[in-house]
Amino acid sequence: MDLSTRHLGLELRNPLVVGASPLVTGPDDARAMEGAGAAALVLHSLFEEEILAEVGAHLAAEAHAESFAEALSYLPESGHPGPGPYLDLVASVKAAVGIPVIGSLNGFTPGGWTSYARKIQEAGADALELNVHFVATDPTENGHEVVMRTVETVGEVCGAVDIPVAVKLSPYFSSFPHMATRIRDAGASGLVVFNRFFQPDLDIEALEVVPSLRLSTSDELLERLRLLSLLHGRVDLSLAATGGVHTAVDVIKALMAGADVTQMVSALLIHGPEHLTRTLSALEFWMDDHGYESVEQMKGSLSLARAPNPQAIVRANYMQVLDSWDG
Ligand SMILES: Cc1cc2nc3c(=O)[nH]c(=O)nc-3n(C[C@H](O)[C@H](O)[C@H](O)COP(=O)(O)O)c2cc1C
Repeated sequence: MDLSTRHLGLELRNPLVVGASPLVTGPDDARAMEGAGAAALVLHSLFEEEILAEVGAHLAAEAHAESFAEALSYLPESGHPGPGPYLDLVASVKAAVGIPVIGSLNGFTPGGWTSYARKIQEAGADALELNVHFVATDPTENGHEVVMRTVETVGEVCGAVDIPVAVKLSPYFSSFPHMATRIRDAGASGLVVFNRFFQPDLDIEALEVVPSLRLSTSDELLERLRLLSLLHGRVDLSLAATGGVHTAVDVIKALMAGADVTQMVSALLIHGPEHLTRTLSALEFWMDDHGYESVEQMKGSLSLARAPNPQAIVRANYMQVLDSWDG
């Protein structure tokens, strides 16, 4: 049984990747994930704000930079350790495992901070994920401006490195396939489909906005499957599924829709690294039972790549779903 797959130009032993999260905080976690079967590790993100805070601290040491330091003081306390420890993490994890290690940057504006992509490469990362996490709040900024800023940020990060860059986007673009093409033209090699937003809740007694971190379920995968099937074979990008991958069945669905790899976070936070081993066994069992010899055979087999007019299929499916309601 050949479970190998290719993602971002990297040869991976199987399609199970540990997604960006606190699952890997050092060499021991990394070795445990590798031992359980992970094909690659994405480290948690280094945030634009962390980098700017460090740059601000340096500048604040100089008398003329007081106003800049004051502006930065409005950034929330994140509890993140900052760029130095992050680069140490990349280097120590890379030294501990034989599987590819993917660094992660999280930011949404072009600027000097994007040069840290280079430092992550120099620390030993095999590839980089750029999470462009952005929630529109400015009523005067239109969608085109958001797209242009995102594309510019991607271009800067890609221009700073020689390693492949995958971009983790939110689904909230008027045309996701067009956005994918723009990302590709800006230099990205892959797309991570897609960012999962953590919706803040309201505490009506304390009159406070409270952060709520709920882990995913397999239901969240469905939205990803549609986009993956739209993108596979139609944009020249390596595709990773993230969000709702919990079981071998989820992995198979994502591959058939068009993903090259699947990322797991919630399932591993709940069940631990050995969940990777169980998922891989179940994947092999299912493939054997259904006469598949390789992951490559399954990839994109349920995508819309061969449909001359995917829009017609999407519309027809919508009508069919509405008609399926029988009261
Ligand atoms: C506790 C936690 C921390 C996370 N940290 C990051 C991060 O630093 N960078 C990032 O791009 N995504 C981060 N994510 C998002 C995950 O990488 C993933 O995209 C999301 O959880 C959906 O996958 P899942 O359904 O397998 O959990 C985090 C998720 C969780 C639950």
